[in-house]
Amino acid sequence: MRVAVLKEIESGEKRVAIIPETVKRLAKKGIEVSVESGAGEGSCFRDGEYEEAGATIEPSAEALLAATDVIMKIQRPTPAELLKIREGTTIISLLYPLVNQDLVHTLAARKITAIAVDSIPRTTLAQMMDVLSSQATIAGYYAVIMAAYSLPKFFPMLMTAAGTIAPAKVLILGAGVAGLQAIATARRLGAAVEAFDTRKVVRQQVESLGARFVEVDIAEDAQTASGYAKELSEEYKRRQAELLHRHIAKSDVCITTALIPGQRAPILITEEMVQAMRPGSVIVDLAAEQSGNCALTEPGNEVVRHGVTIIGRLNLPSRLAVHASQMYSRNMEKLLLHLMGDGGLKLNLQEEITQGCVITLGGEIVQPKVKDVLSRKGESHAN
Ligand code: NAI
Repeated sequence: MRVAVLKEIESGEKRVAIIPETVKRLAKKGIEVSVESGAGEGSCFRDGEYEEAGATIEPSAEALLAATDVIMKIQRPTPAELLKIREGTTIISLLYPLVNQDLVHTLAARKITAIAVDSIPRTTLAQMMDVLSSQATIAGYYAVIMAAYSLPKFFPMLMTAAGTIAPAKVLILGAGVAGLQAIATARRLGAAVEAFDTRKVVRQQVESLGARFVEVDIAEDAQTASGYAKELSEEYKRRQAELLHRHIAKSDVCITTALIPGQRAPILITEEMVQAMRPGSVIVDLAAEQSGNCALTEPGNEVVRHGVTIIGRLNLPSRLAVHASQMYSRNMEKLLLHLMGDGGLKLNLQEEITQGCVITLGGEIVQPKVKDVLSRKGESHAN
């Protein structure tokens, strides 16, 4: 089997789907890799390193696509890329099929098999292929680095001849993968850290990292059977807002990561809460990709409002492109080996991981949830 690695063309995307180390490991399993020249540049991997690892370098995307059946990418295909992809080809990339519904219809109509790496189930068995976790780890780490860079204060407590400096107070909202990594990073820098999550089950993980768990005093838990967060009652939201107001007002840094799958991110920080923070404080909004957890976040930008720096930068993993690519690439190795049968991909839609991430196959939308949502939407348009 031969897979092709395309150079990312989306502005600001520096990552690459497969790195030289993985090329070598795939070769041992009978998977050959072709790489578009310069694909690794943004992540500091030269064409020569890919060649040494056993990859073939192709001068252009056209040359690459003509000779391959499986394409590996980070970002979903652009309309221009789609035009170059032949019928029957498989594309493996981020896709967010419930958000990019038109793209899903086009992929099905063009008989392109689409494998969405963001739709791999979050199960123990799939952990080594889980790009959402690997990339969230990077975002959580980098959010703290950005906050430390922007904050006009030290993070650690210092005892100096000029007196004692109190540690920075950091509040993390949402203790999923990114939030837990943000806690660990802020603690390593010496900050005093508090964290809040609507899923009470994360208390132990938060405390084991040396942070204090902040809790709404109400017997409601937001964890669904699949481990994600769900919508909350109005009473819970009111009490949560009061609690957060108090804690945000005394924080130097607030890092927000709260997401609810398939929905706009919940607003946790209102304008009044921003006003209550001290000038110079910093908010890093990791939910900016889904419009943000702070009412004043401008996705893609860094703004100062009421003296508070609000960072809504997008695609943070791309800023740590070497390790982001390394982790993504290792996830892809495990995924390819999982999906591979004798001599090529063998997609068994009865198997849980395959069923979760194969969105289109043979001209049809096959992923159960995507199929259901899109067909219901089609029906409501028809009525
Ligand atoms: P996410 O990115 O979907 O959300 C981030 C965090 O925000 C979550 O902890 C969520 O509870 C929290 N949140 C949502 N609404 C909130 C609100 N209003 N206020 C405060 N916090 C709020 O989460 P992530 O990191 O993708 O993890 C989702 C679930 O998947 C978790 O239960 C996690 O443990 C699980 N998971 C399981 C894995 C496995 O078993 N292989 C791997 C990775 C994650």
